[in-house]
Amino acid sequence: MATVSLKGIKKVYEGNVTAVHDFNLEIADKEFIVLVGPSGCGKSTTLRMVAGLEEITEGELRIDDKLMNDVAPKDRDIAMVFQNYALYPHMTVYENMAFALKLHKTPKKEIDKKVGEAAEILGITELLQRKPKALSGGQRQRVAIGRAIVREPKVFLMDEPLSNLDAKLRNQMRAEIIKLRQRIDTTFIYVTHDQTEAMTLGDRIVIMKDGLIMQIGTPQEVFDHPSNIFVAGFIGTPQMNFFDAQLEKTESGYAVRVCGALIALTDENAKKLAERNVGSMPVTLGIRPEHICFAAEGGETAIDGVISVSEMMGSEYHLHAATGENDVVMRVSTTDMPKELSGGAHFGTPIKYTFRPEQMHLFNKETEENLI
Ligand SMILES: Nc1ncnc2c1ncn2[C@@H]1O[C@H](COP(=O)(O)OP(=O)(O)O)[C@@H](O)[C@H]1O
Ligand SMILES: [Mg+2]
Repeated sequence: MATVSLKGIKKVYEGNVTAVHDFNLEIADKEFIVLVGPSGCGKSTTLRMVAGLEEITEGELRIDDKLMNDVAPKDRDIAMVFQNYALYPHMTVYENMAFALKLHKTPKKEIDKKVGEAAEILGITELLQRKPKALSGGQRQRVAIGRAIVREPKVFLMDEPLSNLDAKLRNQMRAEIIKLRQRIDTTFIYVTHDQTEAMTLGDRIVIMKDGLIMQIGTPQEVFDHPSNIFVAGFIGTPQMNFFDAQLEKTESGYAVRVCGALIALTDENAKKLAERNVGSMPVTLGIRPEHICFAAEGGETAIDGVISVSEMMGSEYHLHAATGENDVVMRVSTTDMPKELSGGAHFGTPIKYTFRPEQMHLFNKETEENLI
């Protein structure tokens, strides 16, 4: 069992580059945590500090309540898999996987057993006598993971392990990692820049930007309740649409004026705003493509748009519509396409759409924080 605690962790590199500011996270035993964010946001630095490959400038790192800041990497009981899974080219798969155990003077019989089990979990038993050059990219990555599994680490660290694989293999390996996780019950910290990987793998995900944590939550929480504009735009694909809008406090509640339409907030959201004494103010309205729907003629909630691009995705369309300066993307199931647009929406076709009020996100224009 292993819990990992990061308290006020900070990393300043030579040349005064602060890569990670005040990172706080309590990881439960057997939890699968994903650190996600754009390139350069400090994900690898954070992971490497947990591994002991980078010195911690400030703060406290604990594994199972034991302070680790000055413990050597080999004594931390962790294993790490990198994007560039450098296997030893002159060794067979078996020898690659057995290497760390041999260094630890593990008896031959036990090595055989551990390598055999890991190979079976990863489906590479038939490859044990091959050399890395005779393996595909996906097989090599399995070996790299196998090399880490045999050590039965308390904490499993993975830094973009799938980034070098092509899209199809990446999806396949993502499913493999989910299975792997069910078989070897350890604590995982997984780094990726890919929000889909983060959403599908993480028990909780930590969204980072510029060395700062933007939000920590379950995939559902960060998707449904992004705490700011950055998270809202980063999580979810196609991306959330954003509009300049005006929040208006009315006698009966709240409404937003957006692109010439007036859309009332739900009672639940209005209550939340009222409790915090939010008044009328300019806001950024966010709405996901799947939460925009076609509107009837004439209502005050309808927004006019003109189709600019229509992407047929199989079971759904991604419709791009222009409304003034805004390029809006909506996701429409093929079965919900209006007759006049069926068979593919055409460039220049006028449409009317509106937003599902319960799915609208409102952000403070200045702080970019979620108002609801
Ligand atoms: N050894 C280093 N020396 C100085 N700056 C570094 C070093 N490694 C990383 N950085 C900087 O720290 C920031 C975070 O990098 P990194 O943790 O690799 O981000 P990520 O893994 O999220 O892409 C970047 O600005 C990067 O340029
Ligand atoms: Mg990195």
